Amino acid sequence: MSDRPTIATISNHDGQTVTLNGWLYNIRGSGKIAFPQLRDGTGIIQCVAKKAVLGDKAFDELRHLGQESSLSLTGTIHADDRAQGGFEMQVSGVQIHQKASGYPISPKEHGPAFLHDHRHLWMRSKKQHAILKIRHLCVRAIRDYFDDRDFLLLDSPIFTPNPCEGTSTLFETEYFGQPAYLSQSGQLYQEAGAMAFGKTYTFGPTFRAEKSSTRRHLTEFWMVEPEIAYANLDDIMDLAEDFMVEVVQYVLNNGGRSHLEVLERDISVLENVQKPFPRMSYDEACAQLDTLGVPVDTDDDFGSPHETELTQQYDRPIMVHRYPTAVKAFYMKEDPENPARVLGMDMLAPEGYGEIIGSGQREDSEAVLLEKIAAHGLNQEHFEWYLDLRRYGSVPHGGFGLGLERLVCWICGIRHIRETVPFPRMMDRLTP
Ligand code: 4AD
Ligand code: MG
Repeated sequence: MSDRPTIATISNHDGQTVTLNGWLYNIRGSGKIAFPQLRDGTGIIQCVAKKAVLGDKAFDELRHLGQESSLSLTGTIHADDRAQGGFEMQVSGVQIHQKASGYPISPKEHGPAFLHDHRHLWMRSKKQHAILKIRHLCVRAIRDYFDDRDFLLLDSPIFTPNPCEGTSTLFETEYFGQPAYLSQSGQLYQEAGAMAFGKTYTFGPTFRAEKSSTRRHLTEFWMVEPEIAYANLDDIMDLAEDFMVEVVQYVLNNGGRSHLEVLERDISVLENVQKPFPRMSYDEACAQLDTLGVPVDTDDDFGSPHETELTQQYDRPIMVHRYPTAVKAFYMKEDPENPARVLGMDMLAPEGYGEIIGSGQREDSEAVLLEKIAAHGLNQEHFEWYLDLRRYGSVPHGGFGLGLERLVCWICGIRHIRETVPFPRMMDRLTP
C-alpha cells in the first residue's frame, strides 16, 4: 500500500509505467484522442488517451464516462511543463470500476445550501480539499507544539454533570436517569490535570447550543486547551503568542502554501504573524474604539463590530486582557487591582476574524470560588471535585482555549466557518 504510486508523489515515477486508482475529475477530447483528468485524493493529473492505443471499445467507454466515475488508469509518466502538476500520463490501460452519471456538483455555481446538503460529495472539490488539508496541518502543528514542550495529553470527558462556560449554551442529554451535558470546554478537567502533571492539554470536540447562526459559530467545534500550574496571566499571554506564531509558520513551512494558493489567500498577512503581538487592556481597547467612532458600554462585552473595527487597526493578532468581570465565566480570577476586571485575555485575529483564543488565570481561592459559584447560580455539589483542587495544594494557574475552526477560517481567509469542518453542525444543520 505505502509504496503504491500516487499523484502527489508522481515525480518519483518520471519515465515509469504506473497504475493510478481514482475518479474522473473531467474529460474532454475528440473521436481519436481524449484528455481525462484523474483525481486520486492526493492530486489531479492530466492524462492523454488515444484510440489507436486503447482500441475502439475501451476508448469509447472512457470517452463517455461521467464525472466522478471510479477507474484505474495505467500508463507512462512524463514530465511536462504545460501540465497542471508538471506531469502527464500517456494512458495504455483503463479499468473502470463504476460508471457514474449525473454527478450533482458541476463546475457551474451552486448555492451554499445545495453544496452543504451534498457535503459528502462537495468535499471532493479543489477548494474544499485545500481547506481540509489546511485543517489537517493545523491539527498537526498544534499537537507538535504541545508534545514538543512536554505537555501531557489528558483527554477531558465529553459527558459532564456541570457547565463550564455558563448555562445558556448547554446541550442537555439524559444519562441513565440523570441529566448530563455535552462539554462546552475541557478546561475544568485540565485544571485537575495541571495540578497532577504540571502542564497538560486536551484537544477534542466541544459543544455549544448557540441559538444564533453567524458565520463564526458552530454548535460542535474542536478546541485545544492547554493548562499550566504556577502560571499567571502574563505567562499565559506569552504562551498563546508563541503558540500562534509557531502554528501559523508551521502551516506555511510544511506544505500549506500550495493549498492557500488554491484559496487565493494573501500569504503575506500570515507571514506577518510574528512576535510581539500588541497587548492592551479592555479599557484601553474601549478608549481606542471611542476614538474610532464605535463606542462600547465599558461594562459590556465587545460585539463583533467592535472586534472587527479594532482588529482592522493591526497587521497581526492582538491580545485584549482584563475584561469586565460581569461578562466572563465564574472561574476567572479577579484582578487584585480592580475587582471589576478579570485576569482573562482574548486573542483577536486580524482582518475582522474576531476572537480565536479565550484564556486567563483561574481563581485559586476556595472562598472566592464558592462565592462565584453561588453568584452564577451554579450547583455547588457539582463543583465539589473542582473545589478540591483549591483545598489540596492550590497554586496560581491558567491556560487557554483555541477554537480550531476559527483558526482554520482565518488562515484560509474564507468567509464562513462552516467550510472548515468536514461535516458542520449548526443551529440549522444536522445533516449529512
Ligand atoms: O472563549 P471560550 O468560551 O473559552 C473557553 O471555553 C475556555 N474554557 C478556554 C480555556 O481557557 N481553556 O472559547 C474558546 C475558543 C474561542 O476563542 C473560539 O475560538 C472558540 O473557542 N469558540 C467557538 N468556535 C466555533 N463555534 C463556537 N460556537 C465557538 N465558541 C467558542
Ligand atoms: Mg471567549
